[in-house]
Amino acid sequence: MRRAVPPRWLAMVLLGVIALPAVAGAESASGPSESSLAETAEGERLVHNMDCDVCHTPKVMTAAGPRPDTSRRLSGHPAGEEVPPLPGGVLGEDGWGGLFNHHLTAWVGPWGVSYGSNLTPDEETGIGAWSEETFVESMRTGTHVGELRPFLPPMPTYDRLTDAELHAIFTYLQSIEPVSNEVPAPRPPVAPPAGASSDH
Ligand code: HEC
Repeated sequence: MRRAVPPRWLAMVLLGVIALPAVAGAESASGPSESSLAETAEGERLVHNMDCDVCHTPKVMTAAGPRPDTSRRLSGHPAGEEVPPLPGGVLGEDGWGGLFNHHLTAWVGPWGVSYGSNLTPDEETGIGAWSEETFVESMRTGTHVGELRPFLPPMPTYDRLTDAELHAIFTYLQSIEPVSNEVPAPRPPVAPPAGASSDH
């Protein structure tokens, strides 16, 4: 008998119930729902278009120049790859404004040395333990919410993203491969050599 087949709406309800934990961000044996897949894809599009890879992904050299190393996408400045100290007199109004390493993950300027962070969902070294609220507030205010300190350059200010855009970016970042990579803490500017200041 044809009516023995469950009506389509019942299948939809069941699918919704199964997919609900995935929408809420939890693991689900049936995989992510269609709407969370759409959010993840939108997040990837935004991350790609806003060039997060420039400073947060190590590079591999190709014939066309440095390209993001997709095997460790968004894992930040590689641990152990220190940049040498900057010789005095390089930075200044009549000199260079800043320098960066070949991964574009370490940046030297009047603020000292800053390193692109690990944005993968690794709990220890990435942002896996961050709540969405922390992420959204950090991006909106340009501040490390926990530490209450502003982001160092060259992290751009992304204060005009909508709630939906930030939600999509966070959803995408939490979906990528976690990479264990402890990014070094930023280094303060090197004090000018003794005698360089006329005040003291
Ligand atoms: C031009 C370089 C640059 C670009 C582009 C960039 N960032 Fe950053 N970002 C940085 C640097 C450098 C830091 C570390 C700043 C600090 O130490 O205060 C940082 C820090 C962060 C942090 C704080 C992480 C933590 O563990 O404290 C988040 C979150 C972040 N960036 C997200 C993003 C996202 C998302 C994008 C793309 C939409 C992006 N960034 C694009 C350079 C960049």
